[in-house]
Amino acid sequence: GKVRAPTHVVSTICDDRGEEPTYYGVTMSELITGDYGIGDVLALLWFKRKLPKYATKFIEMCLMLCADHGPCVSGAHNSIVTSRAGKDLVSCLVSGLLTIGPRFGGAIDDAARCFKEACDKGLAPPDFVEGLKRQGKRVPGIGHRIKSKDNRDKRVELLQNYAEKFFPATRYLQYAVSVEEYTLGKAANLVLNVDGCIGALFLDLLSSSGAFSAKEVDEVISIGYLNGLFVLARSIGLIGHALDQKRLQEPLYRHPWEDVLYTS
Ligand code: ACO
Ligand code: LMR
Repeated sequence: GKVRAPTHVVSTICDDRGEEPTYYGVTMSELITGDYGIGDVLALLWFKRKLPKYATKFIEMCLMLCADHGPCVSGAHNSIVTSRAGKDLVSCLVSGLLTIGPRFGGAIDDAARCFKEACDKGLAPPDFVEGLKRQGKRVPGIGHRIKSKDNRDKRVELLQNYAEKFFPATRYLQYAVSVEEYTLGKAANLVLNVDGCIGALFLDLLSSSGAFSAKEVDEVISIGYLNGLFVLARSIGLIGHALDQKRLQEPLYRHPWEDVLYTS
């Protein structure tokens, strides 16, 4: 009989060979004529399933709320400087994206991992925080440069309120909030930040929506899907900043001498 030559690539999320492309089996026509949005597209291509409306709306809220946070944050600053150096749009975008990591925007997966492990073990928030401190680690998802106890992050409040209204359960969010209660006793800027809030709420979504088995939740957490939400969202803002600089015809950026402490 015929022997199928082994392929060099395996793909399980889409198919572009038929009359019309599909995203995890859903045709383009269905996407456009049905009640689908970008949250549904993300659910099909990242999670390989349809998710309930409240969940795709939550994904869209994360994308909308993380799209930009002003020109001064690491990512936007890099994109602005790159744009002013006359580089192309893709270079401006990636130079901004490359700042996303454990300190800025890329703490969502670590926050989800840490909150899940601690909450599932029933670890009291002070023990969780002090345990990380003993290891010389910061609590991912906690802390902000400009947000504090008296200047809360509106994004966190909006996501929290939505989840409390529409999610079947918010066990991990409650845990993250109790961690925040403890860290706020140490310093006013140790708030639950937007990365931590999304990490905790995604855990709640994954584990209470009924759409994921416990093994699948662990897979999402261990592969690390969630920083992708910030990357995707912030790309919108980074492109905006790059275009803004070009539109303004801003010249090459050079950092002022007075703002550097020369010690040599
Ligand atoms: N856990 C424990 N202690 C902390 C934390 C934390 N997450 N954040 C700050 N501290 C404490 C530390 O004692 C720190 O002192 P150290 O430098 O000796 O460790 C002290 O606060 C002051 O820290 P700074 O570095 O001055 O705080 P900064 O304002 O620069 O930090 C940052 C902000 C980077 C967000 C920090 O809080 C942090 O690393 N958080 C964890 C990572 C994280 O969640 N990042 C995502 C932020 S949200 C976003 O980017 C969209
Ligand atoms: C962001 O969304 O970029 C931030 O929360 C980081 C910041 O310093 O504003």
